[in-house]
Amino acid sequence: MTRIEIDSTRPGATINRDIYGQFAEHLGRGIYGGIWVGEDSDIDNIRGFRTDVIEALRDIEVPLVRWPGGCFADEYRWRDGIGPRDERPVRVNTHWGGVAEDNAFGTHEFFELVELLDTEAYVNGNLGTGNPREMAEWLEYMTGDSESAVVEERRKNGREEPWEIAYFGIGNEAWGCGGHMRPEYYSDLYNHFATFLKTPPGSEPKFVASGGHTDDTEWTDVLSRNIQRQMDGISFHFYTLPTGEWDDKGESTGFGEDQWASTLWQTLRMDEFIRANKKVLEKNDPENEIGFYVDEWGTWYNPEEGREPGFLYQQNTLRDALVAALNFNIFHRHADRVRMTNIAQMVNVLQAMILTDEEKMALTPTYHTYGMYKVFQDATSLPLEIANPGSYRSGDRTIPSVSASAARGEDGELYLSLVNLDPQAAQQVTVDVKGMEITEARGQLLTADAMDAHNTFENPGSVKPADYSASADSGNLTLDIPAKSVLVVGLE
Ligand code: AHR
Repeated sequence: MTRIEIDSTRPGATINRDIYGQFAEHLGRGIYGGIWVGEDSDIDNIRGFRTDVIEALRDIEVPLVRWPGGCFADEYRWRDGIGPRDERPVRVNTHWGGVAEDNAFGTHEFFELVELLDTEAYVNGNLGTGNPREMAEWLEYMTGDSESAVVEERRKNGREEPWEIAYFGIGNEAWGCGGHMRPEYYSDLYNHFATFLKTPPGSEPKFVASGGHTDDTEWTDVLSRNIQRQMDGISFHFYTLPTGEWDDKGESTGFGEDQWASTLWQTLRMDEFIRANKKVLEKNDPENEIGFYVDEWGTWYNPEEGREPGFLYQQNTLRDALVAALNFNIFHRHADRVRMTNIAQMVNVLQAMILTDEEKMALTPTYHTYGMYKVFQDATSLPLEIANPGSYRSGDRTIPSVSASAARGEDGELYLSLVNLDPQAAQQVTVDVKGMEITEARGQLLTADAMDAHNTFENPGSVKPADYSASADSGNLTLDIPAKSVLVVGLE
């Protein structure tokens, strides 16, 4: 039997709530149709924002939203998205489907979304095709409190008070869609652009440098040595592809056990990538001032048949729920450096929380995992050992059967998350907490009969969490965890 040992007497790093951040790009129906429908829409809306989507996102307490991209950010002209909507220019979204972008959703709409969600803003600036003046003026437009022409323009457009920005990104994927640069060249550009980014005292965002991806550590190394201007964190991207191959990634539904195992195996690599980059940062930044921000992660499958491939719409199954939970457990483990992440993406794109079709909406299994894990936002991580963990094998992949994480919540309660990666066998796990006698576990369990169980617009409640409880017997707590499931419990 697997044994979990938690040490409640040795608190670790705080699990920054921003680890639970989301990404909303101008991509497919991520913003248009998914979040923003406009005030004149027949779909129920709050000043143009879908009421159903806003209410659902409020329930999972989204701490941070990254916008406007992604690749889109490095072509975005912020001035297109301010002023009267019917006068905003139309552009072509060259990255994502070549569709018309009418700029109805711009800076003011983004901050209204932030307010509706009671969340924080992560704005990604355009380094790829913009210039330092444009970037500096956008930041001034958003945060300035002076009487400058740029700030007066914001006031004329209806916003008197400056907005708060939690994070500001200087470019995106500079090694790829952001300009195919070398890290040395990007570092110079970063220093150049950052020199001119000014905000009133006390309202500086955390500045984010665009880092590497997958198994690369060179970007972290070069950026952490060469960047001289303010840099609070280096970003990192890693997407989970069932096959690991971009030209045939694997399907979102209808997959076999081999792709169940290979997907979970792929996603667990996040741990090794974070470790490798942390090692570099420990050398170049021993004071631990630079955060490692995984600001794009999640599953990426083949496009669904009959849909615009550039819109990256995909179904989301129980497997995605496990992917999310496994990544959270990894992020918790590295909470000392990993202080912010954003899943890609929030609505209708890649590993989404929510899918919509006109007026219909379905919450995905990933959404439910976020809901279950919200107790970990700003919690204090606790050391946890898994003694004699079993393993599960399918095809050429062997993965551990159980993943776990524990923390002391902001409310003082001790929380434990468990993932049973085995799609066939239930697990029995005994839980031992040093410094506490546990009598009971209560929380929520997410599982389903099929590996690709998912919610549809016709049947939106197929996969949803159920209440779970277990009591200790003579001082011993044993949890029965069904095959292919995610469990989050409070221990008392
Ligand atoms: O999330 C979709 C895209 O993936 C982003 O625009 C880009 O940064 C990454 O390649």
